[in-house]
Amino acid sequence: MSLPQRVRLVEVGPRDGLQNESHPVSVSDKLQLVQDLTDAGVSYIEAGSFVSPKWVPQMAGSAELFAGIQRKDGVIYAALAPNLRGFEDALAAGVKEIAVFAAASESFSQRNINCSISESLDRFLPIMEAARLHGISVRGYVSCVLGCPYEGDIAPKQVAAVANELFAMGCYEVSLGDTIGTGTPGATRTLFDVVAGQIPRGKLAGHFHDTYGQALANIYASLLEGIQVFDSSVAGLGGCPYAKGATGNVASEDVVYLLQGLGIETGIDLDKLITAGQRISDILGRANGSRVAKARLSA
Ligand code: HMG
Ligand code: MG
Repeated sequence: MSLPQRVRLVEVGPRDGLQNESHPVSVSDKLQLVQDLTDAGVSYIEAGSFVSPKWVPQMAGSAELFAGIQRKDGVIYAALAPNLRGFEDALAAGVKEIAVFAAASESFSQRNINCSISESLDRFLPIMEAARLHGISVRGYVSCVLGCPYEGDIAPKQVAAVANELFAMGCYEVSLGDTIGTGTPGATRTLFDVVAGQIPRGKLAGHFHDTYGQALANIYASLLEGIQVFDSSVAGLGGCPYAKGATGNVASEDVVYLLQGLGIETGIDLDKLITAGQRISDILGRANGSRVAKARLSA
């Protein structure tokens, strides 16, 4: 399969990134990050999450955050919603696109959202109905697609079954999450090949955490499988509080650099993205997780 001319990046730093930070981040610092990403030309920003603040305290200010975002035309500012309550809160906060999240592993589903996979899918049905009514687009996630912190290997067929349920209920795109970053390029190709038996490749996205340093290789493997949408996190922020040991998502700067090298357009200004990632790294008092940013900033 030939490589695409253009790839769409879904920036998950403000959500997947900051949800896992022990350092509290103020709403104004989150707003600065969202603004910096907007200025860098990012067209999709997952900015927050309408989940229980008892489960993920770092996402508590999401309504205030959405009220403060200076929206730029053509940019999607999205949020996670685990249940109808989360959807309603997101709607009230002016969110125009949400994401629901299921898992391919029963144990992870219980740990992450306190219900079975099938219960989670049942919970999403009223969200889909309400979303249709209000003209809200819904993206779907499947977690643990290349391994689970509690169950180990996950069969691609199981991922395909959950992804297919999300697609069939109306998610316009399903992002396959390597939550703990154990996937390798070979496993990634097999996974997309199996899932593409049920869902068109153009409706799938890749979401790679970089725990084992495989994420960029997995993205390249996915490109060869005809995947054209990838989730990434500025400065490599992130992890999931319910996946112990999972480090950050693949750094957006590194993905943009990879794609530029392949002649693939993203619409993102790499220098401005690096500035955004360094600013939030400074605020968090942590090292920048992007290799490209570190190289450029020390050059
Ligand atoms: P539960 O305890 O089973 O829910 O949690 P409940 O319905 O029994 O409610 C318990 C309490 O939570 C009640 O409050 C509810 O009002 C409240 P109380 O009476 O105790 O004061 N509540 C809510 N509050 C705010 N917003 C809501 C909401 N719903 C209930 N939406 C629940 C179930 C799903 C709420 C909980 O498990 C939860 O919030 N989990 C979120 C976990 C999470 O955010 N994980 C990280 C995101 S997923 C991820 O990172 C993976 C991804 O990146 C892809 C990948 O890498 O694989 C997407
Ligand atoms: Mg994630």
